[in-house]
Amino acid sequence: MSTTREIDDAQSTEPTLLGLEVQLADGAVHKIDAAAGYSAMELMRAAGLPIKAECGGSGVCATCHCRVPLEWADRLPAPANDEIDKLDEIPSADDRSRLSCQIQMTDALDGLVLELQPDSLDDRDGRYLDAAE
Ligand code: FES
Repeated sequence: MSTTREIDDAQSTEPTLLGLEVQLADGAVHKIDAAAGYSAMELMRAAGLPIKAECGGSGVCATCHCRVPLEWADRLPAPANDEIDKLDEIPSADDRSRLSCQIQMTDALDGLVLELQPDSLDDRDGRYLDAAE
């Protein structure tokens, strides 16, 4: 038999659904249900978005490159030195660039907007980059 406290504890462990919005090179905007503790890259993959993410989130391939709109840039934790080093290897990277595998969703990031960059699109059928031209 459950006590009120057990029920309250169970309810408090329910993950809170968060919002993540991803814009692709063709201009399409995808709204994804997210949960705290997952990386933005993992959430994009789980939603079926065409992200390369070749290293699976180890932070070594730089194929999960996204840009963060200015209004969100200051709300993200600063990148670690390893992430900065990897971003330096991407010719098109700029001050708004981040590796989406290094962005962990938190309640504070509910509604985060990311722009998945063409260099990190898995676009084998030409569906996304051709549409952007
Ligand atoms: S998935 Fe490889 S660096 Fe992000």
